Amino acid sequence: MQPFEDCESQVRSYCRHFDDLFARGKGSILFNVDGRAFLDFWSSAGSVNYGHNPERLKERLLDYLQGDGLCAGLDLHTVAKASFIQAFHDHILRPRKLDYRLQFTGPTGTSVVESAVKLARKFTGRRVIAAFTNGFHGMSSTSLGLTGNRLQRQPWCDPHVFRLPYDGYLGPDTDTMDFFEKLLTDASSGLDLPAAVILETVQCEGGINVARAQWLHRLRELTRQHGILLIVDDIQVGCGRAGRFFSFEDAGIKPDLVCLSKSLSGYGLPLSVMLIAPALDVWSPGEDNGTFRGNNLAFVSATEAICQYWQDGCLSDGVQARGRTVLVHLTALSRELGAQHFSIRGKGLVWGLECHTPQMARKVAGRCFRDGLLVETAGCSGQVLKIMPALNIPEASLLEGLDILSRALREEAYAQAMALAPVLATPA
Ligand SMILES: Cc1ncc(COP(=O)(O)O)c(C=O)c1O
Repeated sequence: MQPFEDCESQVRSYCRHFDDLFARGKGSILFNVDGRAFLDFWSSAGSVNYGHNPERLKERLLDYLQGDGLCAGLDLHTVAKASFIQAFHDHILRPRKLDYRLQFTGPTGTSVVESAVKLARKFTGRRVIAAFTNGFHGMSSTSLGLTGNRLQRQPWCDPHVFRLPYDGYLGPDTDTMDFFEKLLTDASSGLDLPAAVILETVQCEGGINVARAQWLHRLRELTRQHGILLIVDDIQVGCGRAGRFFSFEDAGIKPDLVCLSKSLSGYGLPLSVMLIAPALDVWSPGEDNGTFRGNNLAFVSATEAICQYWQDGCLSDGVQARGRTVLVHLTALSRELGAQHFSIRGKGLVWGLECHTPQMARKVAGRCFRDGLLVETAGCSGQVLKIMPALNIPEASLLEGLDILSRALREEAYAQAMALAPVLATPA
């Protein structure tokens, strides 16, 4: 019996692109069952920002398990939860002068998005949520309604969503906030005042689209003026991915609600939190309930992650430096291969190289995997190579991965040129 092919649902996806049998992971390396090493530029879609099985986090988890620390307990007060809240307050919120209550929602990203929308609707008494083109917020009913991609959306997903053009969607010279402002101020625009606007400040699944700081400012200002809540979905680009702990820090805005998940536990363990501006915490006890709210094991690794990586600016500085290395490398490569065929976008340590066709991106990712590098694709049709290594990847591994990527791109560009050659050589 072949366990995956014979028994697992057709819905499986990443394993089709990275088709091997994996056994172990350490830092930026995954090992297959035969011990072959693969460099990781994927980071499990941003859920292992500090690499696989970071040593100190593992030690804390082993100590906790060895001591029979409580694992299940719904939202009981536990030592593990208290330590996490303290560390998050002391090292994340207080230094940034942020005042939020913490709600531990269900453990997945989509659960925290569902909770944020539910709270915004309850608080405002309104139904419509504004979301952006190319946004991705998860696969459950409400989150899917907010998601832009036609292939992922379903006929039954939440219909009370108003779609706005993201920054850059209508070209670099159009400020799409002009459109939103017009809709909000024109009594005949047909837009029901939204309960909230939800966005990623860097759209990852949507193709690594980076919102400009001044655009984010305008959005914050408009939402404030019109009493609309601003929800930042920092599930993929929070926890340091965009350079600082929160992706919105550079823009200096304060959202009303923030969704965090993926790398929060630092170990790939499920854990999500919604940050709530205190005045908005209008829940009644138990109104947004669930069995796996606050995973105690994940609290243990999350606390250690915060203490190890976020007590000073070293990790952020390292992310900026590694990000510059990626940018320099990609720029040189795209010039070599014909800059008109590629576009480079990114921030911190999340970068996208848009190829002229989705087929090219997929083939390059396939060649990378053949040569021992995990790279995924993103964008409306998968046309963007998404480069997302661990935030603390050693310089040598980063360069090695970039070399594999370059080789794969050169090979694919050559193969495509050769495929066209007979056509070009045919006399008119
Ligand atoms: C920005 C964003 N929001 C929400 C989600 C959904 O998270 P999950 O897959 O854990 O439900 C994702 C997942 O990739 C994401 O990138």
